[in-house]
Amino acid sequence: MTTIAPAPLDVAALLPDGAHLIGGEWVPARSRATLDVVNPATGAVLARVPRGTAEDVDDAVRAAEAALPAWRDTSPATRGELLHRWAESVREHDDEINLLEAVEVGHPVGPSPIAARLTYLAGKADKVFGDTLPTRSPDVLGLTLREPYGVVGAIIPWNAPGPMTVFNTAAPIAAGNTVVLKPAEDAPLTALYLARLAQEAGLPPGVLNVVTGYGPEAGAALPAHPGIRRMSFTGSPATGTAVMEACARNLIPLQLELGGKSPQIVLPDADLARAVPAIVRSIIMNSGQVCAAGSRVLVHSSLHGRLVEMLAEGFRAVRVGRWDQPVDMGPLINARQEQRVLDYLAAGREEGADVVVGGGKLTGAPYDDGHFVEPTLFDRVTPGMRIAQEEIFGPVLSVLTYEDEEEAVAIANGTRYGLTATVWTRDVGRAIRLARRVEAGQVAVNTVGDGGPAGSIGTPFGGYRHSGFGRSMGPDYLEDWTQVKAVIINAG
Ligand code: NAI
Ligand code: MG
Repeated sequence: MTTIAPAPLDVAALLPDGAHLIGGEWVPARSRATLDVVNPATGAVLARVPRGTAEDVDDAVRAAEAALPAWRDTSPATRGELLHRWAESVREHDDEINLLEAVEVGHPVGPSPIAARLTYLAGKADKVFGDTLPTRSPDVLGLTLREPYGVVGAIIPWNAPGPMTVFNTAAPIAAGNTVVLKPAEDAPLTALYLARLAQEAGLPPGVLNVVTGYGPEAGAALPAHPGIRRMSFTGSPATGTAVMEACARNLIPLQLELGGKSPQIVLPDADLARAVPAIVRSIIMNSGQVCAAGSRVLVHSSLHGRLVEMLAEGFRAVRVGRWDQPVDMGPLINARQEQRVLDYLAAGREEGADVVVGGGKLTGAPYDDGHFVEPTLFDRVTPGMRIAQEEIFGPVLSVLTYEDEEEAVAIANGTRYGLTATVWTRDVGRAIRLARRVEAGQVAVNTVGDGGPAGSIGTPFGGYRHSGFGRSMGPDYLEDWTQVKAVIINAG
């Protein structure tokens, strides 16, 4: 695993104290209340941000409404150029962004894909096309226009604030919408800093607004606001349901990304030397607090013993500690998330799974200052157990065994989720068959996710079933943020 030696970070130099961004101005909450953003590795307060409420959301929606007519009518080429400038600025401030995300989320500093994603989306701004329609008369022209929805809202979680901010703001903005973003209370700083860079890159005031605050206070007000025309939400199924209910009352569409229980399917001919490090990394990265984490290994019985030995070796080698030390894994985000993971560790034991590595909380220095749990490998997990069904959002890997391909597919598809999956095999025919049969928004073969720096570009990401609906990125992503208008011109 790669870790980059971090430099010191002065949060106060990057962001104004206690302010969020509404209509191009850095302002406090109307109530003047703030909430503390904490370094989860040390418990130290990093910054204060506004504790926004419905009043602040209303201000932000009005600012976005005021900015809309001019932004909607700005040439898509100009919109793209401004987003390219934002991407350039992100590239220039890569170190600060990576450090900010690392310190508020608690993960080791790693290379960030966000400038590349931003460049991809910027390049699509002037490539949104309508259609010409066949007509019954040569005097008539029929065509479709793709128009922005208007003011759109986005609620994002704390686990990957940089990429989430970019996916959920750059695409709607490129398509001519204006945006109100509500970042997570645990990690709002990266979003605020990215918005600052957007502003400095020349994005007009009010095109991108950020309201910070708690979910039930600031978050709930966003999909309920009558000025919002479309929503995106990434987070837990429970909150996603609440957001969808609010959207239903407001009669607006939404995109939902709600996590997963992604299977890593190891076929009898898999190259284990290649698979094992990738499997370990997939569940250790960001302490397993990744919606696409490969949290279930489905292994053919013939390889079971060897694979578990190799995984155990990989788990034992994981260095855990503060993000500013040479480690592979940091803490969990907060006390609630720690309790959640510890409860699942207890549930796994109670239901009869074997703990091969880890299984508990890390204590002593420096662990007592944060929320550190051991990377944990469970073996002899059966499909009905909670640790095989529910998203843990921690560094906990469950190993399940299967006898044939049918059973592998049944186990893989046997949860309510369907976000991502990986198939490890040298057999192209089986790879194709499984890629088709596994129900997930993304299936990787002999790699994880989009394949990383050498992988596919602009890869659609999103879920089947309870993992949600709608896709981030992909060829149609900007179109998703537009609505179709048919225009019929009779010149006869
Ligand atoms: P959450 O879904 O409650 O929080 C996500 C975002 O929603 C945050 O910005 C939060 O402020 C906001 N929010 C909370 N309540 C809201 C409401 N009533 N109306 C509108 N917005 C609201 O997730 P939480 O509590 O941080 O994590 C709980 C579990 O959810 C995790 O253990 C994990 O399993 C899952 N999760 C999945 C994520 C994913 O990437 N799909 C990301 C974060 C959490
Ligand atoms: Mg919550």
